[in-house]
Amino acid sequence: MARLGLERNVVDQRVLDRTITRLAEESVLLPTLGQLADPATIPAGVRQRLVDIDPDVANPLNLYRVHWFNDAARRGFTDVPAYVELPSELTGVKARIVLALGNRFPMIRAHKVLAAYGCLVPRLVTGQFDPGHHKAVWPSTGNYCRGGVAISRILGCRGVAVLPENMSRERFDWLDQWVIDRSDVIKTPGSESNVKEIYDECARLDRDADNIIFNQFCEFGNYLVHRSCTGAALDKLFEAITRDRPGSKLAAFVSASGSSGTLAAGDHLKERRGTKIVAVEASECPTLLENGFGEHNIQGIGDKHVPYIHNVMNTDLVAGVSDTDTDRLIVLFNTEVGRTYLVERRGLDPQLVADLSNLGLSSLCNMLAAIKTAKYFDMGPDDVIVTVATDGADMYLSEIDKVVKRDFGNRFDTVAAGETWGRSLAAASTSDLIEMTHVDRKRVFNLGYFTWVEQQGVAIEDFKARMKQSFWDGLLDLVPAWDDMIAAVNAKSGAAAKLGL
Ligand SMILES: Cc1ncc(COP(=O)(O)O)c(C=O)c1O
Repeated sequence: MARLGLERNVVDQRVLDRTITRLAEESVLLPTLGQLADPATIPAGVRQRLVDIDPDVANPLNLYRVHWFNDAARRGFTDVPAYVELPSELTGVKARIVLALGNRFPMIRAHKVLAAYGCLVPRLVTGQFDPGHHKAVWPSTGNYCRGGVAISRILGCRGVAVLPENMSRERFDWLDQWVIDRSDVIKTPGSESNVKEIYDECARLDRDADNIIFNQFCEFGNYLVHRSCTGAALDKLFEAITRDRPGSKLAAFVSASGSSGTLAAGDHLKERRGTKIVAVEASECPTLLENGFGEHNIQGIGDKHVPYIHNVMNTDLVAGVSDTDTDRLIVLFNTEVGRTYLVERRGLDPQLVADLSNLGLSSLCNMLAAIKTAKYFDMGPDDVIVTVATDGADMYLSEIDKVVKRDFGNRFDTVAAGETWGRSLAAASTSDLIEMTHVDRKRVFNLGYFTWVEQQGVAIEDFKARMKQSFWDGLLDLVPAWDDMIAAVNAKSGAAAKLGL
């Protein structure tokens, strides 16, 4: 159980003492999960200090920006998470589709730095990770390892990124700048959906006791940080955009699943508002839809397995989105020809068109899945579908070049823009979509057995316990327990006083 990050008591006091010394030396003050869920509770002194700190450097106070409430300049906070609402002229559906923007997060411009913090902080405050001695290993299909490396830098420790070799060049460029040693970037064979190869590399690294693996696919810290922080943020967003529209309903929460961490926000929203939870995957690799396999390019949503922290029995729909469509839409939304087409031929607001650059490949996948969901349920204007834009298009500029070459004969013109609109957006249908019955849920749940029990050695009783909602709800009291431990560690390290706060 300790491996899965469920400890609520100190595991090794000597490690914790050394950690506290390190935090004092590096002047690292740790935010609580409560503060990240509701940044209005972050002390005014910290907020003031942040105004002068670059959001993209390894400054410890940037940990206080690891939440959904950063403003456009990423210097100050907002009351409501930044978002883009897509109009019916774009989506072709009446339901309101709203994406919360992950690229406001610090250092990596993606919300996965929150998952990295959620996995790390319980280990830190329970004395299971010694930043002065251990290396932090971050297995990832893209952004999580960047978040982990960024936080490792803040702690002054080695952070090792493990990710597939075919991820976008922009990710590797970022990692080259941030790792302490180039050998800390480990490329595993294959692409996005080759998660098993990542596990195998982690098993190899795990043989060295100095490596601590923060496996986002099975760490409940990832689940909890998203259920409590992302869930609360999206709930606040829904409240803000429906204040003047009584009768609105938070009809669905849509999230493409990599580790399934983000999907945990759906558990919060469903509990509060009866929201349906839609898990999304690439139709080229239909693991949840068909127990299938395959390659795809929706970077960040690795597949061919069911993450341990996916609350499958609470998932209402599974939707498949083709990577051909996400590849082509990123070209339509981020080229001069495409933007001109959207404004002049489709009559879209130029500001909205400019805002579409906040949507990376998996964000476009979420957008298409939201459209499919709205069509499937015949949703109307009172129905709101909330989803996330994990990162922006700037992470994929090199991919845009590749797609223009591969799919458009190296020339993306107005005809190609029109074709892309018709084929990849307007044609979004209810195909590749399952409304989960109890039997469907059990089928997907049981598929996880092969990864977790057979390959990774999880005890069968632990595996099966996750069938019940009470198991997931029962995890929630870890959040205040960890927050109390974080507060105690901060008090002992004296980092606040060192920072003059
Ligand atoms: C770009 C991108 N989109 C989506 C996801 C999936 O999010 P989650 O792991 O929370 O399911 C990730 C995860 O790394 C990602 O990097």
